[in-house]
Amino acid sequence: MLADKHVLLIIGGGIAAYKSLELIRLLRTAGARVTPVLTRAGAEFVTPLSVSALAGCKVYSDLFDLGDEAEMGHIQLSRVADLVVVAPATADLMAKMAQGLAGDLAATLLLATDTPVLMAPAMNVRMWEHPATQRNLATLQGDGIAVVGPNAGDMACGEYGPGRMAEPAEILTAVEMRLSDGPLIGKRVLITSGPTHEPIDPVRYIANRSSGAQGTAIATALAALGAEVIFVTGPADVPPPAGVKVISVQTAEQMLQAVQAALPCDAAVFAAAVADWRVASASASKLKKTKGGLPALTFAENPDILRHVSQMKKGRPGLVVGFAAETDDVLANATAKRDRKGCDWIVANDVSPETGIMGGTENAVTLITETGAEPWPRMGKDAVAAQLAQRIATALGQGA
Ligand code: CTP
Repeated sequence: MLADKHVLLIIGGGIAAYKSLELIRLLRTAGARVTPVLTRAGAEFVTPLSVSALAGCKVYSDLFDLGDEAEMGHIQLSRVADLVVVAPATADLMAKMAQGLAGDLAATLLLATDTPVLMAPAMNVRMWEHPATQRNLATLQGDGIAVVGPNAGDMACGEYGPGRMAEPAEILTAVEMRLSDGPLIGKRVLITSGPTHEPIDPVRYIANRSSGAQGTAIATALAALGAEVIFVTGPADVPPPAGVKVISVQTAEQMLQAVQAALPCDAAVFAAAVADWRVASASASKLKKTKGGLPALTFAENPDILRHVSQMKKGRPGLVVGFAAETDDVLANATAKRDRKGCDWIVANDVSPETGIMGGTENAVTLITETGAEPWPRMGKDAVAAQLAQRIATALGQGA
């Protein structure tokens, strides 16, 4: 799967560095060549000898090592690979990357590289949740750096929560997605996913039951076929997919802005369950109970993102796919929705509570195209995603 691929692996200084040894083994078993870079802090957790023994080559660690500069300069080192992987990406390393600092070899390589970067954060849960780290994360994602993990669980420091580095096998999958030779290499695909939250006041909002599972699965499947995926997500229950560009939003209006900023693209899949209405003027302070009265909420219509993009005169994606979540007359409603919105395909599904689809792991969809309706058997959301991704690849391959 990774034959002829070259990974530059930067190992930061965290307890999770021990997992990076297993990652090197998995990458090499998959056929990749691995050039390791061990930070000074990383060397406190794993030895240069074990890293180089597993990688089967020299480990780089010092910016001012003249031997290295003679053999291979730091700029050249930053460009040798097809992908730079930072695992573990510590809070300190993330902060350096977000700031553009270049005080050591790892930070310099990350600033100098023109190669895609995938990072696997690992740190204490409080450090991960700290606004500074979250700011850095948003900056790095905005810079196009892909992120895998962190996962939630028991931590080496005795606390519990998100911060554990993704498992080596998960990081391998994310690497394979970035480096696959699939049919969507060179194609840029936009996906909206999850619900939107429309504020009533600073503490209350209007939302829906979408978990984001189907959109996440589609993003994963498209990335696995080699697409560059831009994933615009509302506040979902499931973690965002690995190895894709994630743009997090809350409201429909923010989602529209993020979608417009992400265009142009070859295909766009609108899997988000966007709230149709927002409160016309959300209160800046918490609404209080008042004697003898209920708050009167006035609604305003949200922008229809799918219709807006489908009907763009200039810069419309070659293939626009919408979803139709219906509870009655699924086919008739979904077919009418395709015409009304102007999209190319509609993936229709019955979200009546008794189907267990919304928030569940399975989906039973009907694909509606210009040639008619094609019912697919009920299957896992991952399988629906894989099938849809294949269809998208075929359509784009035929010049959609
Ligand atoms: N959609 C969108 N922006 C909106 C509403 C919906 O982009 N403001 C997209 C959804 O992502 C989905 C499709 O439009 O791909 C249909 O969404 P759905 O909620 O089923 O339809 P509605 O537009 O809300 O139509 P209706 O109220 O008639 O069901």
